[in-house]
Amino acid sequence: MEKITANELRQKYLDFFQSKKHIIIPSAPLVPENDPTVLFTTAGMHPLVPFLMGEKHPQGDMLANSQKCVRTGDIDEVGDNRHLTFFEMLGNWSLGSYFKKEAIEWSWEFLTDAEWLGLDPSRLFVTVFAGDENAPRDDESIKIWQQQFEKVGIESGICESGCEAQEDSRIFLLGAEDNWWGPAGETGPCGPCTEMFWDTRPEEGKLSGSHEKMVESFRLMEIWNDVFMEFEKKSDGSFEKMSHHNVDTGMGLERTLTVLSGKANVFETELFEPIIAKIEEISGVKYEDQKNSMRIVADHLKASVFLLADGIEPSNTERGYVLRRLIRRAIRQGHLLGIDQNFIAEVAKIVQEMYGGIYPEVLDPKISINLTQEEEKFRKTLERGLKRMEAIFFQDSNEVKSSQDSSRLLDYSHAFDLYQNYGFPLEMFLEELKKTGLEYSEKDLIREFNEELKKHQDLSRTASAGMFKGGLADNKEETTQLHTVAHLMLAGLRKTLGGDVHQKGSNINGERLRFDFSYGEKMTEQQKKAVEDFVNQAISAKVPVEMNEMTLEEARESGAEGVFDNKYGEKVKVYEIPGFSKEICGGPHVKNTGEIAKVFKIKKEESSGAGVRRIKAVLE
Ligand code: ALA
Repeated sequence: MEKITANELRQKYLDFFQSKKHIIIPSAPLVPENDPTVLFTTAGMHPLVPFLMGEKHPQGDMLANSQKCVRTGDIDEVGDNRHLTFFEMLGNWSLGSYFKKEAIEWSWEFLTDAEWLGLDPSRLFVTVFAGDENAPRDDESIKIWQQQFEKVGIESGICESGCEAQEDSRIFLLGAEDNWWGPAGETGPCGPCTEMFWDTRPEEGKLSGSHEKMVESFRLMEIWNDVFMEFEKKSDGSFEKMSHHNVDTGMGLERTLTVLSGKANVFETELFEPIIAKIEEISGVKYEDQKNSMRIVADHLKASVFLLADGIEPSNTERGYVLRRLIRRAIRQGHLLGIDQNFIAEVAKIVQEMYGGIYPEVLDPKISINLTQEEEKFRKTLERGLKRMEAIFFQDSNEVKSSQDSSRLLDYSHAFDLYQNYGFPLEMFLEELKKTGLEYSEKDLIREFNEELKKHQDLSRTASAGMFKGGLADNKEETTQLHTVAHLMLAGLRKTLGGDVHQKGSNINGERLRFDFSYGEKMTEQQKKAVEDFVNQAISAKVPVEMNEMTLEEARESGAEGVFDNKYGEKVKVYEIPGFSKEICGGPHVKNTGEIAKVFKIKKEESSGAGVRRIKAVLE
């Protein structure tokens, strides 16, 4: 088939599912709105969790979209041929509507039909859940796949779990580790999945070895995953069949484009080529000569642009920390390419040009300002770190003994101290150390550094563990209450501080509400008290919460407050607490404010960037 662009592929996917009666919904932001169990939106299903759990979606029960995703679990693998920090996931969902037959048949049709992607079916292989003590083998999916391959005269032999591929192997059975999805929290909807793989090197002949080996050697590349949510994981750990069946699918846009462009590598497609060309231009280095560093810079800066576009700023905690790490790692790899002046905003500009038409939020001018500020800050950090290193090695005679005493040449703890106090990267420490001509063991130094780091991380993990507990699935009731309280508080803030106050972000877990809003000054004690009184009055008045579906325009005209303008599709839900609040929102909320039955208290009010304040509040 002729060459297809990323925009055409995205559009084709949406057109296909529209032709199958799906409603196209927009991408949600990368920051999950009401689910503190994850830092980022990591799959298209994430923003849909309440609807997968049975809540009615205003757009219907068959949906499709292209969702921005960030996964940081694979961060160390970036640089191979397929792992990315930021990627787009094409997804189609059935919320209690169609199930395995339609999902698999449509996947097959979209991939192989000449009218759509027209991929050669002989290069497609699939995996299916093998069954375990919790759930049976997914025979239904096996049968449906066999019917598809049969249509084009391809024999579809089954390769049992743990076995090596035979001549006719087409369907590989794998355990829960590979072919079971979810739940998002500790409890909730989940089920077996079936994944589709592309043979990247058919010239090597029939597949051989285990499925895992073929994925590791990059011969097979996963492009699409169909998840069949037919079970609910209960709090006692058991799995129960649900009456409500969902389908959740995810196709990687970048990987599928790679396949369609006949490339072996996501970084060689049009979604990366212009970024890499810019890095080549700035560094004067050829991609061929330093592939790994180039890929990391391109990947991390693309992800950083999208994170900044969704309101995250570099910091030392949570999401901001991930963003800071991505930016600093890109600068550090840039240094390895010989770039020692500010350059990241220049690379980011290419990303902005590439994606601005599809995701206009990336055009926000504050993105390049933020990137340059962060880069300057980091370069100062590096400078300070280098000075400190120089002092340690060349001035402070207590630190470095004479070269005769080789057992005490260097105190390795400096590496961690510099990292801890100056943010000075270990790799750079080692690089500088090499230049000094001092004797040391790199292996021992790295080991000591990692031991210190681990001690430190264990401490901070304990401190943030609370964040990963909570969540939609666990503290559902408390979370829902705080969600309704957030509406009341915003209404109270607007009443007390004026109509220019709007929500800038929120993060709710079962224990507290964190809420950012636009306002330029510190709130006085009286103002805080007025907002608390407003919310508490609404709680004690036991007001029923009403929900109406309407178009976005109708919602605006009715005076409803809205948050993220481009997030919603045509029809929206408006939650009204008559006499107190009216807001566009996906839910969930309490049915009556009386259910909250606690006292609302503002614990903290502080600045959260220019013109933005942050409140931490609880129910006591
Ligand atoms: N949620 C599934 C995935 O991310 C489709 O693979």
